[in-house]
Amino acid sequence: MSPEIKLWIFRGALFVASCLFLLGLRALTSAETARRGMWMAAIGMALGVAGTLLHKDVVSYHWIAIGLVVGTVIGVPMGRWIPMTKMPERIALSHAFGGAAVALVGLAEYLHRGNTLGSFGMGAIGFEVVMGAVTFTGSLVAFGKLQGTISGKPLGFRGGHLLNAILAVACLTGIAILIARPEQTVVFYGVIALSAVLGVLLVLPIGGADMPVIICLLNAYAGLAASASGFALDNQILIICGALDGGSGLILALIMSKAMNRSFRNVLFGGVGAGAAATAGSGEAKPSREASIEDAAELLKIASSVIVVPGYGMAVAQAQHAVRDLAGVLAANGVNVRYAIHPVAGRMPGHMNVLLAEANVPYDQLFELDAINDDFRQTDVTIVVGANDVVNPAAKSSPSSPIFGMPILNADQSKAVIVLKRSQNPGFAGIENELFVQPNTMMVLGDAKHTLGKLSAAVKGSHN
Ligand code: TAP
Repeated sequence: MSPEIKLWIFRGALFVASCLFLLGLRALTSAETARRGMWMAAIGMALGVAGTLLHKDVVSYHWIAIGLVVGTVIGVPMGRWIPMTKMPERIALSHAFGGAAVALVGLAEYLHRGNTLGSFGMGAIGFEVVMGAVTFTGSLVAFGKLQGTISGKPLGFRGGHLLNAILAVACLTGIAILIARPEQTVVFYGVIALSAVLGVLLVLPIGGADMPVIICLLNAYAGLAASASGFALDNQILIICGALDGGSGLILALIMSKAMNRSFRNVLFGGVGAGAAATAGSGEAKPSREASIEDAAELLKIASSVIVVPGYGMAVAQAQHAVRDLAGVLAANGVNVRYAIHPVAGRMPGHMNVLLAEANVPYDQLFELDAINDDFRQTDVTIVVGANDVVNPAAKSSPSSPIFGMPILNADQSKAVIVLKRSQNPGFAGIENELFVQPNTMMVLGDAKHTLGKLSAAVKGSHN
């Protein structure tokens, strides 16, 4: 194939891929079109890779083939066998790999043509390795926190903000020195090392319930690093892809920090929730009221309005179909059933929406926090299905709580509450929940799927 034809195929593939990314992202904004959006983005990515393989600078396919095999061997099992409940950890690892890849590409480019890069190229590579290294180590810490190998509590220290600011300024100074004197290899390695330390220090002080915000931010960092890599390599698809990823990640982080009532400045400088003590509850533990399936069924029999609050436990129990079945039984009895979705319920943005959509729960029965929070007061029964932090009243009443200030679903205000979980253990933030010891709350302990199945049968049976 002549070089001209290769060039035209290369450009055409990248153009079509860019259009597919934009259309895919657009389609992802609605549940009805999300699946189509994923396909568009995947085809766009395949076209981008195929087009890049035709680039004139590719002189040998050996290393590319090896990379493809290694990536496939790691990626396919990760995609197929990691359970939904481990998705956040998988996403954190993917961000870490992405950050490492971008930083390594930057390092290779610097070693390959450091002296001929020019100011713009050197600046782009500097930015690329800083963001790549921050994303790499930050995402590894996030992975550890989600996995439980690193404490989920805020691990901040006095002067942490100042140290982070000093490290950020040192990295920027290093880039400025490299623009003027690209041959200063020691400075280049120093910038990478400081960025890696910065990544760790930015994520360590993030407290349990605030993790979603920082994960969105790390997503944005990975995108911005890829975009900078595109400028350094003069690769338009990387610039577009990275900018889309960086931009959407940043917008998501802004939405999340607003939803969690956290200052975005604090998120950026690694201090979300760091001011509050991560107490595991205060004072004497009050007893909660354990109830049987029959007690809960009696309550649901006389209810005319029910709100279901799903949480991470629903994902663990894979109870979404059982939830829909109970809602169907209640609806058949004339009960008005709605679902209240907290923005950070579960372990990834939209986690509950995805699970409930999988169980064919009609989308118009799902209500976001602002749309439903005032209705709890007039609701007969709220069924909390494996949710904990997102219904913890300490966020409203306890200034010393690490989740203080985070908006929660007002389950505590409804006339009666049925909580389905396995034990009295705390949720992700590691704090006790006053809702469970309220006089109008009954705890039905056990695996949520199991309990819901029995509850449906009990409510159905009593109406037959
Ligand atoms: P959590 O506070 O994590 O509570 C989940 C509850 O589910 C646990 O208390 C657990 O209690 C129960 N559970 C687990 N397995 C169960 C099963 N098989 N059957 C019944 N219950 C089960 O969940 P949440 O209320 O959804 O809050 C989410 C938390 O995760 C927030 O702190 C949020 O900030 C954080 N987070 C969210 C994200 C995103 S983006 N959504 C990402 C990272 C972190 P038992 O062990 O007693 O059963």
